[in-house]
Amino acid sequence: MKINVSKTLPTKADTTIIMFFDFETLSGQLSKLGIQTAENLLHSQLKEHGDSLSTIDVKWNTVIFLKLDPKVPVNVCPKIFRKTCLKYKTLLGNHVVVHMPPCAQEKTESIAATVLNQLMLTANHLGKYKFKPNEVSDIKEVTIVSESYITALKTIASVEKEIAKVQLSMMDLINTPANIKTPEYVALRAAGNAKRQGFSVIEMNIKEIRKHKLEALLAVNKGSDQEPRFLVLEYKAKGKNSKTIGLVGKGVTFDTGGISVKPSTNMHYMKSDMSGAALVLAFTELCARLQLNINVVATIPLTENMVDGKATKPGDVIGSYIGKSIEVIDTDAEGRIILADGLGYLTKNFNPDVVIDFATLTGSIIQTLGYHVAGLFSNNDDLAGQLYTAGQNAGEKCWRLPIWDNYTEDLNSDVADLKNYSGKPVAGAISAALFLKEFTNEHQAWAHFDIAGVSFTDNEYGSMRNATGYGIRLLYEFVKMWESGSK
Ligand code: BES
Ligand code: ZN
Ligand code: ZN
Repeated sequence: MKINVSKTLPTKADTTIIMFFDFETLSGQLSKLGIQTAENLLHSQLKEHGDSLSTIDVKWNTVIFLKLDPKVPVNVCPKIFRKTCLKYKTLLGNHVVVHMPPCAQEKTESIAATVLNQLMLTANHLGKYKFKPNEVSDIKEVTIVSESYITALKTIASVEKEIAKVQLSMMDLINTPANIKTPEYVALRAAGNAKRQGFSVIEMNIKEIRKHKLEALLAVNKGSDQEPRFLVLEYKAKGKNSKTIGLVGKGVTFDTGGISVKPSTNMHYMKSDMSGAALVLAFTELCARLQLNINVVATIPLTENMVDGKATKPGDVIGSYIGKSIEVIDTDAEGRIILADGLGYLTKNFNPDVVIDFATLTGSIIQTLGYHVAGLFSNNDDLAGQLYTAGQNAGEKCWRLPIWDNYTEDLNSDVADLKNYSGKPVAGAISAALFLKEFTNEHQAWAHFDIAGVSFTDNEYGSMRNATGYGIRLLYEFVKMWESGSK
């Protein structure tokens, strides 16, 4: 998609989106465009229709009025843009003009970023396996029209283009059915992206995984016909003295629960149990695309969790990369098992300044925070604070929960170093986080995101749950804070 930023209006467009805060400033905007509307009528119609309304104008074709609430920062509610863009998707056409409301620089920038992001994400197609995908054609060109801040808006536009690209590819990967999206397939995609964008991937197959004694990953993989993979991604900044962010992503390409099998209702959604892996892969790619001045090192354990005669059973004791033994109480708590090796390998072999893992880890976090907010756990108050702020700025919220020692005894096992499930239906997301902590080699700046509720939800892109792209903007805000030296 081509993005233009301009002070003046283009000569024609298929759709013109006019954003405004109040009806008084709207009059000025409209007279510049030469659009004549009965404002009282517009006012009352908007009230009736909610925040947006479309009409037809002779010169500007489809005109969409979008009223913004001056009290609500737009980046925090991208939903209003998403709703509007998708509601009028069939009308948008090839060239969309976005008329910015006159306001301060920071606000203009965040409105432009959000609206551009949502316009580009309209290219998120769910129906690609249909005989006739029957999709509306994608927007080819967007022109942002603003009275001022042209240079800043141009920078925003070029960054947003890259952000949307990685979000779309991440969402596509999460939405891909599990019969296609095997561990091998994800690894191939990672290798392809790495080659094109300039970061490196080491891909371990089952032999190498055995050689490196990633025993926890192997234990989860035992019931699967698909070989596991273990990926190590690295992006190195050009400049010296850059800080290093360490990332780990849960890559369960399908979670049946294993021998502790899940009920069949909603089991199909478990193709999304690799959302953490998709996020970590896409974010590493983003850093390379934007040539950010930070280093990234990431591990991604990939496997299915299946029911089989060879599968790991409840009560089995398994090993792990760092050497701690695990009593498997519930084979459906497989995410923490493979993350044990992802975290163990990362913290033993690299020395990142921070370690952050992302995992669709527990149903418990959905009980606690629902579908709009991710669970955040950390042993470091500064890091937790920065991640919380990044989430607020990104419109991808997270909320910290405690990992106090009181909960640790839930993981004590009589036969192994620890067990993978307390057996009690309480504080599930917290004990899962405490389990992970045992494999971080006492890293002093570790954070864990439980993204089970936020990665794959009911949303405007489809009639069933599908990927949201959660996490890219949050991580981007976080490393931007880092790059600007405010840490
Ligand atoms: N992948 C699931 C968690 C999940 C649930 C993700 C719903 C997305 C939506 C995870 O592997 C799991 O099954 N967790 C169990 C753990 C329990 C057995 C200790 C859970 O939360 O029920
Ligand atoms: Zn599970
Ligand atoms: Zn799982």
